Amino acid sequence: MNELIIVLDFGGQYNQLIARRIRENNVYCEIHPNDISLEKIKELNPKGIILTGGPNSVYKEDSPLCDKKIFELGIPILGICYGAQLMAYLFGGKVSTAPTSEYGRTKVFTDGNSKLFANVRSSTICWMSHTDYVEEAPKDFKVTSHTKTCPVASMEKDNLYAVQFHPEVMHTQEGDTMLTNFIKNICNCKGDWIMHDFAEATIQQMKQKIGSGKVLCALSGGVDSSVAAVMLSRAIGKQLICVFVDTGLLRKNEADEVERIFGQNSNYDLNFIKVDAKDRFLKKLKGVTDPESKRKIIGAEFIRVFEEEAKKIGKVDYLVQGTIYPDIIESGHGKSAVIKSHHNVGGLPEHVDFKEIIEPLKLLFKDEVRKVGIDLGLPNYLVSKQPFPGPGLGIRIIGEVTKEKVALVQEADWIFRDEIENAGINLSQYFAALTNMRSVGVMGDERTYDHAIALRAVITSDFMTAETAKIPWEILEKVTRRIVNEVKGVNRVFYDCTGKPPGTIEFE
Ligand code: XMP
Repeated sequence: MNELIIVLDFGGQYNQLIARRIRENNVYCEIHPNDISLEKIKELNPKGIILTGGPNSVYKEDSPLCDKKIFELGIPILGICYGAQLMAYLFGGKVSTAPTSEYGRTKVFTDGNSKLFANVRSSTICWMSHTDYVEEAPKDFKVTSHTKTCPVASMEKDNLYAVQFHPEVMHTQEGDTMLTNFIKNICNCKGDWIMHDFAEATIQQMKQKIGSGKVLCALSGGVDSSVAAVMLSRAIGKQLICVFVDTGLLRKNEADEVERIFGQNSNYDLNFIKVDAKDRFLKKLKGVTDPESKRKIIGAEFIRVFEEEAKKIGKVDYLVQGTIYPDIIESGHGKSAVIKSHHNVGGLPEHVDFKEIIEPLKLLFKDEVRKVGIDLGLPNYLVSKQPFPGPGLGIRIIGEVTKEKVALVQEADWIFRDEIENAGINLSQYFAALTNMRSVGVMGDERTYDHAIALRAVITSDFMTAETAKIPWEILEKVTRRIVNEVKGVNRVFYDCTGKPPGTIEFE
């Protein structure tokens, strides 16, 4: 059984980051709802508990609480921001609106005697983000640090610790040391959780669970489904069947690439079935211009194709999905998995006869999935692929989708990606889209009346908000030149400078 730290989620924006920081210490960490029962906590048997920040005020009637008995379990607890205020409140301290809110980098003065601050300077920069504060620590709690305006920047009693600032955020200069102190010196974790062991253990678990059962996987060629498929193939070999649907809406050469990596002549034994459904999708999309309708049509058709293939295969016992941890906890309480499968073209087919869904990656973050992929020997470029939406180029073409338009956007996108890779620029997501505009231009001595391509490139860590990437002008110029010269039918190129919000990342 792995050492475990649990994070109780009070709705703070950095909750995933806390879990990441714990795992970086090679200790396995899970996020749970704030109102998790005492019994469940006992069953999980964590070595430590962290209470997160959150947007509420503890003294309001409907604010999220936790079972007060968790403080009597003898398990070390660290409260962060709201979590710290909650601990103060539940122990009879005074929490109120601070006369001055603190936001951003703030100098914190520590008293140096706390185990939490071992090897931390007595004056250290921490990240604050609060309007409420602990005005008076509860009786029996010792105040271990303060700022100019915040009398209780941290406090502790026995194995209960509370910090008003956010040690998980990069701007807290010695936050890593504090969290490591908590995990290693206070919770006494050894830190022996390794991704490789985790992957191996999961493979063994799958093997046992599936036995001689038959497993079906919708393989898109994206990072998550590829890693999930290869993991399953390690576990059960030929009992796995992978279906890859070529919708015709993939990036240039992508379908061939996926087949080359996973197909019959590849290094992997995935019982790979490629379905050429290009014409079917185009037919269904004929005359459709509304983006939401396109999404629905593509999603429905995908499921129909998948179901048809599944029927040919016959009864399967399990269906594999590449769900990852952020998909489950995005909304904090495990409700977002539903949103994601709705959002995903690979949503569940209703009429496929199977008894259970298997999600081998559901406890991993994206970059942990990438590590497992590397560990399993998947090629680097596949494992580091940028996200690509389920409905594919269908939602990167404004207006009606036609074969000709798909070819234009594929070529332009190919050139853009080629130049970005050549330049070695690190971007979260970047692609070309086809606007629904044609305009007059001049090429040679000829008048043209051609399409306009939009380039989009963003920097983001969570894809919920995003900044436009400031790509050097020379590169944009070069990409533009290449696109208008090499892609017949395009005479203008735009760069989309809109962030998210107010835009979305996709261009539909
Ligand atoms: P938006 O456009 O909503 O995109 O800002 C956020 C991220 O989600 C990806 N995306 C999708 N991924 N199925 C997916 O699997 C979809 O239907 C879908 N729509 C958007 C998008 O590429 C970006 O990374």
